[in-house]
Amino acid sequence: MASARSSAAGAIAVAAVAVFSCYVLFSNSSKFSWRRRVSRASRKGEKKGLIAAVGNTPLIRINSLSDATGCEILGKAEFLNPGGSVKDRVAVKIIEEALDAGALVPGGVVTEGSAGSTAISLATVVPSFGCKCHVVIPDDAAIEKSEILEVLGATVERVRPVSITHRDHYVNIARRRASEANKLAANGYRQCNGHSTEAGEFPAISMTDCKGGFFADQFENLANFRAHYEGTGPEIWEQTGGNLHGFIAAAGTGGTVAGISRFLKDKDPRIKCFLIDPPGSGLYNKVTRGVMYTKEEAEGRRLKNPFDTITEGIGINRLTMNFMMAELDGAFRGTDKEAVEMSRYLLKNDGLFVGSSSAMNCVGAVRLARVLGPGHTIVTILCDSGIRHLSKFHNSQYLSDHGLTPSATGLEFLDFQDTGQP
Ligand SMILES: Cc1ncc(COP(=O)(O)O)c(C=O)c1O
Repeated sequence: MASARSSAAGAIAVAAVAVFSCYVLFSNSSKFSWRRRVSRASRKGEKKGLIAAVGNTPLIRINSLSDATGCEILGKAEFLNPGGSVKDRVAVKIIEEALDAGALVPGGVVTEGSAGSTAISLATVVPSFGCKCHVVIPDDAAIEKSEILEVLGATVERVRPVSITHRDHYVNIARRRASEANKLAANGYRQCNGHSTEAGEFPAISMTDCKGGFFADQFENLANFRAHYEGTGPEIWEQTGGNLHGFIAAAGTGGTVAGISRFLKDKDPRIKCFLIDPPGSGLYNKVTRGVMYTKEEAEGRRLKNPFDTITEGIGINRLTMNFMMAELDGAFRGTDKEAVEMSRYLLKNDGLFVGSSSAMNCVGAVRLARVLGPGHTIVTILCDSGIRHLSKFHNSQYLSDHGLTPSATGLEFLDFQDTGQP
């Protein structure tokens, strides 16, 4: 690995200069009053049953990457949460805050537009709160995700992927479903069984006793950020004894990278916090150049949904409230090929079976290790397990169809001349 490292050193030096100019994203976002009271349940330490098992995940040393880079590369094993992903924390926090605020009542339905993980987490935890879950999901998401949702008892709508500016974008449909449920509850309808009613376009939500709805809104609801600021960030700090030098993660809603980066920066501003961004996402440009996209690339201006990346749950072309809370020093780009190769490398060398976003995060961890140099401790997130990705990311035929069949024997797939520039 030593020679591989040195061959990339020139490119990395350039990348370091490009991305290392300290970048504090929306540094005045602290003006937002994002701090909320700790929810009743958390405050009293009353969590019981399944939701008490969310969080406090292990921080695993990824031996292969640590040995190859000379850094301690640690992965927060979020796939060990009861619902199988980092989104369990977010689901619990969103529901707790909504119940505390009276925006959701027990028996109500939590609606969400989600490409999978958040929905699965919501569906997993709603019974603990006596609630229900309705999910709107783009129909290009891996089929096993909606199958799991249905088994968990959620109602699922699979819809055509369209721009966020379209009223039938899955997020907008989910928002509508919550307000439809609220109208039904307010009008005293006892039967909500899929037939057309005066509430207008009737929800696909099927329930016998409508107690209203609440739109989880993981992209804009800062409970998402707070789940990580109050949970994941402090856990990482404790688990490393405050001895860490870098943190890196990709962003979907941005909640993870924002909550953790902001917490770590509050603790120690010297900790370098970075984004790894998949193909097709505008966040790399936003972090490194301050500009998200050209006018043509803006969400809502594209004529059709372009095929950008096979990774799921990460990358976005709009700025969310959650991402705006991030404090980042820089960003890297990652490719699908690197993510696929990384996932196989981790399987072979560490027995870690992770999904596409976790693999991308590990690509980022190695990039950051090479910029910081040996002797540093770097933390990243292992968001979910590979088991969620059997029909795409971990499917040989699918990868072959997309020219992404893995072939690397070591980490040579990361040695291309990455300047860190768009
Ligand atoms: C599997 C997976 N990994 C990573 C992410 C990104 O996390 P965040 O939304 O906190 O940016 C998501 C988001 O949905 C996800 O589903």
